[in-house]
Amino acid sequence: MIRVLVVDDEEPMRRLLKKELTRKGFFVEVAGDGAAALELLRENSFDVILLDIVMPGMNGISVMKKMKADPASPAIVVLTGKATVETAVEAMKNGACDYLTKPYKLDELIIVIHRAYDFGTLSIKNRLLQQELIRKESPFEFVSKSRQLKDIFALIRKIAPTDSPVFIQGESGTGKELIANTIWHYSRRNSIPLIAVNCATLSENLIESEIFGHEKGAFTNAYQTKHGIVEVADKGTLFLDEIAEMPMGLQAKLLRFLDSGEFRRVGGNKNLNVDVRVIAATNKDLTALIGEGRFREDLFYRLNVINIHIPPLRERAEDIPVLAGYFLSRYSRKLSKAVSDFGPEVMSLLSAYQWPGNVRELENVVERAVILCDSDTIGIEDISVPPQNKAGEKGSKPSLEEMEKEHILGVLRQTGGNQSKASQLLGIDRKTLYLKLKKYGLGDYVKK
Ligand SMILES: Nc1ncnc2c1ncn2[C@@H]1O[C@H](COP(=O)(O)OP(=O)(O)OP(=O)(O)O)[C@@H](O)[C@H]1O
Ligand SMILES: [Mg+2]
Repeated sequence: MIRVLVVDDEEPMRRLLKKELTRKGFFVEVAGDGAAALELLRENSFDVILLDIVMPGMNGISVMKKMKADPASPAIVVLTGKATVETAVEAMKNGACDYLTKPYKLDELIIVIHRAYDFGTLSIKNRLLQQELIRKESPFEFVSKSRQLKDIFALIRKIAPTDSPVFIQGESGTGKELIANTIWHYSRRNSIPLIAVNCATLSENLIESEIFGHEKGAFTNAYQTKHGIVEVADKGTLFLDEIAEMPMGLQAKLLRFLDSGEFRRVGGNKNLNVDVRVIAATNKDLTALIGEGRFREDLFYRLNVINIHIPPLRERAEDIPVLAGYFLSRYSRKLSKAVSDFGPEVMSLLSAYQWPGNVRELENVVERAVILCDSDTIGIEDISVPPQNKAGEKGSKPSLEEMEKEHILGVLRQTGGNQSKASQLLGIDRKTLYLKLKKYGLGDYVKK
């Protein structure tokens, strides 16, 4: 049953909503103002909050900010009068997942509640299902022609059925996530979905509660107990991506967890125990970070029981034609096109290129070529010129994207590679910065 909290200062409205929504099968509680709502949230758990935005006392936006400060906060739908669409927009910016303008129809409200519910449960369980779906849709294939990759594949088959931690290192786009998936696929734990946490996209305070969970009241705005990902991953496999971004304090806790399987939720005093296999990956040089005191040496050794280092694509040029062929058939099927070959000069161009963005970049180039191609053979004109050459073209003005890339690079240099600081200066969140770095193939730039 979906649990709804209605926050509205008008008593008749509260009564009406409670009656109608209860009749439609929802569990409903009501609150007349922000303070009462926060009080209820402390004591109960809800899936969706319907929040009237104009209320006496604390206004809706500040109530919402308080609610949102709890990472496990329910999805919030803002209800607003006609005159306050701007406020609704502000609410969305502050994390509301939807809004409805009064007057609205009950049917409309119900649809919005269901949508908000789905949005809210995008939390762990649902995300798992999504990951699982994606995996089912596109069964991954591990293409290997070079000696290096063949050796890696043989190693994967050997170590997958064990429970040892695995540490994967490789430049951006070399296939770290694919390898984590492949290990999981051949492991005995593959009946439980692989759970991935990207340490680079979570803020420092959120990441611990995401991994280990938190108890109700653990911090000011922790209104509800939240299960950590390790609990959901019990008997399964946890993939810690971009492990170099994990804060030092949490590294100590992770080490303890790896040693004993024990952990505590944030704010908890009970030791909990689970059985999780950990696979970690990074594109950074962890030994350098250890030297700078930014990564724990003991944790590195604990993770590094099995080490997989994926060489950059330029060091295994043999893989380029097979990978290109693999992506060609995949995308031509996916895009319903009958492209089946590369022209002779295309393959030599692809083989000569240095691929700073590695396999991902190759995949993107081939996908674009399949889209552009009008015949059954990809010609040189379908291959977009690598940006490094393009930038050198005379007289051409830089594109907006090139300017953005340059600007981001400049700010990163200014902050000595510190992504948190850079994202603040740029006025974007860490996740957005991370995605942009990836898009521009700058994943490895920020080594320091
Ligand atoms: N050997 C391979 N065979 C088939 N596909 C591959 C191979 N290596 C990489 N890919 C594909 O290339 C893309 C990038 O790989 P992946 O996301 O695993 O890289 P990554 O190392 O995790 O990158 P990042 O550091 O940017 O997160 C994916 O679509 C992946 O399926
Ligand atoms: Mg990755």
